[in-house]
Amino acid sequence: MAEYLKDCSVPGKMSWEELEALCRRERLHCEQLGVNGANVKDYDVEFLCDYKKTKEEELYLVKWKGFPESDNTWEPKRNLKCPKLMKQFHLDLDQELRRHKRRCTPKKLDKEVASFLVQKAKLRQRLQRWEAHLNQTRNHPGRIFVMNEVDFEGPPKNFTYINNYKVGQGIVLDEMAVGCDCKNCLEEPMNGCCPGASLHRMAYNEKGQVRIRAGQPIYECNSQCSCSLDCPNRVVQKGIQFDLCIFKTENGRGWGVRTLQHIRKNTFIMEYVGEIITNDEAERRGHVYDCQGSTYLFDLDYVEDVYTVDAAHQGNISHFVNHSCNPNLQVFNVFIENIDERLPRIALFSTRAIRAGEELTFDYKMQKVLTQLLGIIHRLCCEQFPVEATAERLLMRGSCCFQLIQGAF
Ligand SMILES: C[S@@+](CC[C@H](N)C(=O)[O-])C[C@H]1O[C@@H](n2cnc3c(N)ncnc32)[C@H](O)[C@@H]1O
Ligand SMILES: [Zn+2]
Ligand SMILES: [Zn+2]
Ligand SMILES: [Zn+2]
Repeated sequence: MAEYLKDCSVPGKMSWEELEALCRRERLHCEQLGVNGANVKDYDVEFLCDYKKTKEEELYLVKWKGFPESDNTWEPKRNLKCPKLMKQFHLDLDQELRRHKRRCTPKKLDKEVASFLVQKAKLRQRLQRWEAHLNQTRNHPGRIFVMNEVDFEGPPKNFTYINNYKVGQGIVLDEMAVGCDCKNCLEEPMNGCCPGASLHRMAYNEKGQVRIRAGQPIYECNSQCSCSLDCPNRVVQKGIQFDLCIFKTENGRGWGVRTLQHIRKNTFIMEYVGEIITNDEAERRGHVYDCQGSTYLFDLDYVEDVYTVDAAHQGNISHFVNHSCNPNLQVFNVFIENIDERLPRIALFSTRAIRAGEELTFDYKMQKVLTQLLGIIHRLCCEQFPVEATAERLLMRGSCCFQLIQGAF
């Protein structure tokens, strides 16, 4: 019987951290958990909750890893070996004191300030866990960071990170790839090299930068090609290369994405991935999303408007990229293992050099929606200006259409 059970496993109810804390509490040694005679009496600080200063010393209220908050204890600074947590605690504290227009750290913190610091520490933990999960799930070299220095919103509920399109219910894809016979696709492209076979120019230069106009398709080499994996005609398929940060915006646009590295002009940044659904289904979901005040739908209308990508509940980091009328990313239709023109992959490339720390944005192309909305406003409010003139006047003021729409109601 035991033999049959050899490969069976039962998920444990306790996390590794809880098991480790249990070992320490019961003074048990465990090789796998790293608890031994030398460190069984050490306890890990999970976060710091409060601070006070007496004549003799500075003290911190400590939340211990694996123990409930009722077991929190005040510890003198000299006993604590958690410089990173301490630094973060004081950064948060200074920020909160500044908000209350107080310059020096008081001897004892107000209840509200201490509660703010605990909330902040708990939020940071939740975001760090989410960040770790995103990085375990991604299949691309670029790392993902998460940051919220604005409010207490945690990771989005009901969102799963995926790396490639997911095909929605009832859709059957007929994927077909055609390859080339070249040895060197850039320098000696043979007649049937991938872009050429479709009568298009090679999309990339030797540095992998896109060199064709947006609107023209990109045909990358694929599994049927004779060239190697470092062929210059393989860019989007290599995935996100840059370290990016999902951050909470300060002006009510929800989460956004910024680059942590410098990016050169015409460089591939990310794909827009999500669930592929039919346009009819997109229409239905669109009403629901509109009521919720956000949309993650992207119409695949390169030749025919049949499919839509829905990144609302399943997507990659592009789920968090905001709209701008003056964007630093632009969209290209890309074909790799598939030549069905109704189903391009959507790749976002930089339109200019982007500094480390800058937010990434693309144009959602909502002009159509905007004009419709302005039409409604126009009919409702005044008959003074024709719709197009009103739109032009408002856009000339440099307003982003989102702010316009929000401001209009
Ligand atoms: C694809 S999501 C972008 C990520 C989103 N900010 C979030 O927190 O998940 C699109 C939604 O973000 C918000 N958004 C995007 N760009 C915006 C902008 N320029 N101004 C205001 N809201 C914007 C709108 O709610 C929009 O429906
Ligand atoms: Zn080729
Ligand atoms: Zn090639
Ligand atoms: Zn090829």
